[in-house]
Amino acid sequence: MKEEQFIPKPYINSIDDGSFTWSSPSNIALVKYWGKKQHQIPENPSVSFTLSDCKTITKLSFSKKESASDFSFEVFLDDEKKDDFKPKIVTFFKRIENYLPFLKDYHFKIQTSNSFPHSSGIASSASGMSALALCLMSIERALNPKMTNEYFIQKASFLARLGSGSACRSLEGDLVVWGKHKDIDGSSDLFGVKYPFRVHENFKNYQDTILLVDKGEKQVSSTVGHNLMHNHPFAEERFKQAHKNLSNLISVFKEGNIDAFVEIVESEALTLHAMMMTSLPYFVLMKPNTLEIINKIWTFRKQTGSKVCFTLDAGANVHMLYPEKETETVLKFVNNELVAYCQNGHYICDKIGFGAKQL
Ligand code: DP6
Repeated sequence: MKEEQFIPKPYINSIDDGSFTWSSPSNIALVKYWGKKQHQIPENPSVSFTLSDCKTITKLSFSKKESASDFSFEVFLDDEKKDDFKPKIVTFFKRIENYLPFLKDYHFKIQTSNSFPHSSGIASSASGMSALALCLMSIERALNPKMTNEYFIQKASFLARLGSGSACRSLEGDLVVWGKHKDIDGSSDLFGVKYPFRVHENFKNYQDTILLVDKGEKQVSSTVGHNLMHNHPFAEERFKQAHKNLSNLISVFKEGNIDAFVEIVESEALTLHAMMMTSLPYFVLMKPNTLEIINKIWTFRKQTGSKVCFTLDAGANVHMLYPEKETETVLKFVNNELVAYCQNGHYICDKIGFGAKQL
């Protein structure tokens, strides 16, 4: 697939107004996307678990304008007007205008809400951008009803990527690969694809408990963070390592080897943070409580034989990943030993999910 293939032919239908609503989940990367080229092309392939309960619901209402001038839209979060969201959406619209030539023909009302609190330190860009991309694709499908489901989902992921890279992994469940990888046929830098190989029972219904260590705004925006990989002294090795980790995960998933999974996932999380610590300028995104939690997880694993592991995004919060059958013991551990390190004692229980839904 090339970018040009997402430029549509003239539409068959015309439509004056309407609305579409989509619910789209967040995702947690196992092999991390960190570093991008122009036009949101990743420097390395990544793979993520799609989440189930952390999601964004977006309703997009549209009405035809008298004349196609500039982009025209208003945006609401939980029914409250959010003009500070507008610049990000304008950037998104500019990036995708070529692929959705109807964008300037309509006035849009974007009404969005998240299942997780806005100030939880959980990034809503993946779920938010994928939900908006899906609503826009529903309009395109109304204009071109012959569109196949495969094209619909691929283009929605392609558009979501142009809003926020990791958003292209948030449409389908339950494991999604984004970025060209030699062992994965059909993988692409342009959109996410469902992980195509066998996944052992051990990983079915995998759990993700998110410990909210710091609910504040991100210390470093992801765009700034990705840019720090340009001219980074360890960049090339890091990109190679991501390819290798993804190759290794293929047999790990097939064989159900959770110990090897733990090693890859934790190493990926620490490498992401190591990249931030060794860039110029440098950043430490973990908080003391992040480290306390990591050490407690390691001790718990040693003492109990549990398979729980951690991963991190570009922030201080800790995602604890573990098999479904350990849910009770891990939550006991969280309540007894880890809530003290969470801001206001807050954490969120989630698990692997099956992707976005039209409502
Ligand atoms: C650390 O997708 O937020 O979560 O493309 O600039 O919007 P932009 O970046 P974004 O980066 C997410 C990076 C990460 C790792 C990952 O999800 O793979």
